[in-house]
Amino acid sequence: MAVEPAAPTGGNTSVRDRLALALDVDDVVPAQRLAVQLRPWFGTVKIGLELFSAAGPSIVQTMIDDGYKVFLDLKLADIPTTVERASKVLGALGVSYLTMHAFAGTPMLRAGVDGLVEGAARAGLEPPMALAVTILTSDADAPPHILGKRVAVAAEARCAGFVCAAGDVREAKALAPNLLAVVPGIRPVGVPSDDQSRAATPGQAFAAGADLLVVGRAVTGADDRERAAADLTAEMVAAGA
Ligand code: C5P
Repeated sequence: MAVEPAAPTGGNTSVRDRLALALDVDDVVPAQRLAVQLRPWFGTVKIGLELFSAAGPSIVQTMIDDGYKVFLDLKLADIPTTVERASKVLGALGVSYLTMHAFAGTPMLRAGVDGLVEGAARAGLEPPMALAVTILTSDADAPPHILGKRVAVAAEARCAGFVCAAGDVREAKALAPNLLAVVPGIRPVGVPSDDQSRAATPGQAFAAGADLLVVGRAVTGADDRERAAADLTAEMVAAGA
């Protein structure tokens, strides 16, 4: 059931626009509970493979009805034709961002971008921003030159942005200053890094040039989530956001 969006209170609008809440749960009920509770601090929710597989495409409209922009993190990687067809479908859902793997190369990313544009146009919507995933934080074997190559591929394919670790933002932005830098692996000081081997604080990520910070367990796993979200926002403000 859609919850009536309320005007967010307690957050900071310019910081809220830069924060995406990772809804890494496998059911619509806890997802919507988190979304409603944390709406004052987050302007976007990230729906990944887990929630999309469990809840299906209708979860996108549920979150839009709850007042969010939707970041669909499906990390597409397949032959260009398949990605174009899938992107056409996803482009008509009303999402604002969709991820695709940069390792799959320019033709696949370009096919995905084209699919998003066509799908959105058919539905009378703005096309979602295609985000190229550069290096997974779990990929410890990625050679040093690969970041630049993947950012170049993203720009060549006309993606709107890329996903990278905070430590890679400066190098990536130097290569593609007009692309949006989306950064996961956010951990305020004192919060365990879990499985994120290249974590950064919100202030470090912002100072490095991150446009959109993806935050999951640092807030969703906190004993007091609202306090954690408010502290994170305060840290962003202190860093100049
Ligand atoms: O809980 P945490 O803040 O570590 O969540 C990180 C989120 O960002 C997860 O949803 C994960 O899938 C995503 N992500 C990531 N590293 C990437 C790309 C996406 O951690 N390179």
